[in-house]
Amino acid sequence: MRLLKTSKLILILVIFMTFITNAQVSKQAGTFVAADNTFLLNGKPFLVRAGEIHFPRIPREYWEQRIQMCKAMGMNTICIYLFWNFHEQQPDQFDFTGQKDVAEFVRLIQKNGMYCIVRPGPYACAEWDMGGLPWWLLKKNDIQVRTKDNPYFMERSTKYLKEVGKQLAPYQIQNGGNIIMVQVENEYGVFGKDVLYMSQVRDAVRNSGFDKVQLFRCDWSSNFFNYDVDGVYTALNFGAGSNIEKQFEKYKEIYPKAPLMCSEYWTGWFDYWGRAHETRSISSFIGSLKDMLDRNISFSLYMAHGGTSFGQWGGANAPPFGSMVASYDYNAPINEAGLPTDKFYAVRDLMKNYLNPGETIPEPPVNYPSISIPQLTFKESASLFENLPKANKTENIQSMEAFNQGWGRILYRTQLPESKTSFKLKITELRDWANIYINGKFIGNLDRRKDENTIEIPAVKKGDVLDILVEAMGRVNYGKTIIDRKGITEKVELLSGSNTTILKNWEVFNFPVDYNFQKKMKFKTEKAKGPAWYKATFELKTTGDTYIDMSTWGKGMVWVNGYNLGRYWKIGPQQTLFMPGCWLKKGKNEIIVLDLEIPTATQISGVTTPVLDKIVIDESLLHRKKGETLDLSVETPSDEGVFSSGQGWKEVTLKKEFEGQYFCLEALDSQNPKDTSTTIAEIELIGVDGLPINRSKWKIVYADSEEVSVGNYSAEKIFDQQESTIWSTGWTVSKTPHPHQVVVNMEDSVKIKGFKYLPRTDKSTNGNVKSYRFYIKPSAFIIKK
Ligand code: GLA
Repeated sequence: MRLLKTSKLILILVIFMTFITNAQVSKQAGTFVAADNTFLLNGKPFLVRAGEIHFPRIPREYWEQRIQMCKAMGMNTICIYLFWNFHEQQPDQFDFTGQKDVAEFVRLIQKNGMYCIVRPGPYACAEWDMGGLPWWLLKKNDIQVRTKDNPYFMERSTKYLKEVGKQLAPYQIQNGGNIIMVQVENEYGVFGKDVLYMSQVRDAVRNSGFDKVQLFRCDWSSNFFNYDVDGVYTALNFGAGSNIEKQFEKYKEIYPKAPLMCSEYWTGWFDYWGRAHETRSISSFIGSLKDMLDRNISFSLYMAHGGTSFGQWGGANAPPFGSMVASYDYNAPINEAGLPTDKFYAVRDLMKNYLNPGETIPEPPVNYPSISIPQLTFKESASLFENLPKANKTENIQSMEAFNQGWGRILYRTQLPESKTSFKLKITELRDWANIYINGKFIGNLDRRKDENTIEIPAVKKGDVLDILVEAMGRVNYGKTIIDRKGITEKVELLSGSNTTILKNWEVFNFPVDYNFQKKMKFKTEKAKGPAWYKATFELKTTGDTYIDMSTWGKGMVWVNGYNLGRYWKIGPQQTLFMPGCWLKKGKNEIIVLDLEIPTATQISGVTTPVLDKIVIDESLLHRKKGETLDLSVETPSDEGVFSSGQGWKEVTLKKEFEGQYFCLEALDSQNPKDTSTTIAEIELIGVDGLPINRSKWKIVYADSEEVSVGNYSAEKIFDQQESTIWSTGWTVSKTPHPHQVVVNMEDSVKIKGFKYLPRTDKSTNGNVKSYRFYIKPSAFIIKK
């Protein structure tokens, strides 16, 4: 009896204790601050070991598994972005339910004993359509974004932040939640210097309910000092293989008392359609991560797990225009399907040496099952031209947004005047890819990635029908070209001899990306000839994660059981689409493909491993055609000299001011005399006012050599505004000796007093330029063919 009583008491005590401990871990109000040289969590030093994952890029059913995977890699925090355009797809229609239920995601993080860092924007970047900004902002002709000078942008973004606050402010650590930090804007230093704008965004974040939590901003070591925002802690972003001492050198001078944090430590990189697959080696990635751990530097792995840019959500960069593939695998430690990679185990093993006393790393959760679906053939198709929706009419051509369409395809149709001879059709501006037809006959296509805007049309009769079918491929998500309306934004002209006619009176057909739109098509059993939807069903006995091989298809999008899996394009490097098992059903499943080209076979096979790196090198994208050489013998350098070794921007002041539209940088040798290559991260020209020249229209005219077969090192990397990506001369097939030259056409004539060169920012010194010659002139350089 007595024994029973005691054991009952113990049981009650145990239950009570468990309650208390759980409450302490998860629901008690706490504190988190950036204090003197350390973060303090509830008053004690704390090292943030965060893994970034994006809930919109992971099916909701898998959220918890991905969180647990991060924990199993030794992380104690999850870092998340919110994308404004995901939650407010039409003005004032906010949605935080289902796949968009960010509060549930944060609760799951807390349930798994992890802290959370929230990055609500309003601008995010992240290779996401328009960096997370809603397309409907573009319906305003005078829209400007990321500036306090545009009242509409400020009003709408403040409103959005308020809604985020309603969802997440209750989870600030000071309220008993797990949110330890909230970010203000994103890498604003690459875009501007307006402290007032940043202060207003800070206030909007505070006023939305994040009134207690530690705020922060993220920037780069090369620009964080251009502005400072009161009450906002500063963290730095940089990539795998970085020199950690160098990254924080200036930071320590300016903020001697701040704790150090890399708020985005890039584990890999993203891919563009038509460009080689990006990877970052385990050794360079782990090396700098260890350097940070040894120095007690907090970090967030961007990405711990990238996931997928499903549907239309992938973004783009410009110049030159390049759009992101659907997979956001990112060469991250946890792969697109949530499985551990060698990089994952390398992090996990490393972290074991840096745990707090008594801390252990849990085992990874069990993998989700994977299946391979049997090969299926599409027997039904619906021709696009036989399934036109109701037309809109407009006298002057207008962008997709003007027709209230956010994403997808748009067909512009008009009747042509007579032309007895062939003529040129010029599109200004094409966003982003077009098929051109006369009376239904395919003439050719234009691709914005290659700056194509003009096509030859054979003679036509009066009233012949011109169709321009345009596909939008993701809005620019980074830099000054972010205002990126889709479709055709200005005009279409006929150029015949010296005559120019602007085409008018258009019929416009809109093809949005929603499943409900696709499913209404009238499918037939005979094979469609041009652009078309294809439909098939398949039976499954068991469901599981899988990939579908799209390599026999042209260019388009896939919907499975109503879920939009994303874009595909035969040019690669991505050839397979991730098909999450949780979106499949036992029994009958439906798949719809919209293809704008002619597939070589309308069939799909399921594969268990992804193909993300299959690409045929497109010679037309190289900046030196076969047999070309640059003739500098007739030119006089505007400057010549020797760059110092070591990292960081090297600034050159010219002996006098120069004016010109074209410049050339010639590397005569490397810092290491045995090294025959050249690498350059960025080049800036300095105007006579001391400010950098706008680079948004720059084009590479010539680069003597580019490594594009084993990686993505093409010449335009010198002005892509990404300090971690580089132009490299070839080290495989196109390996050539010094000198190496790159020539840029700036499109406008500029007056300069100097220029800046940034060597690569990782630990490697390969290709670092020593002796150089710099040329700038009003006319083009001579390129001998
Ligand atoms: C920057 C941005 C991120 C992402 C990465 C590249 O650091 O802040 O949103 O775009 O670049 O993947």
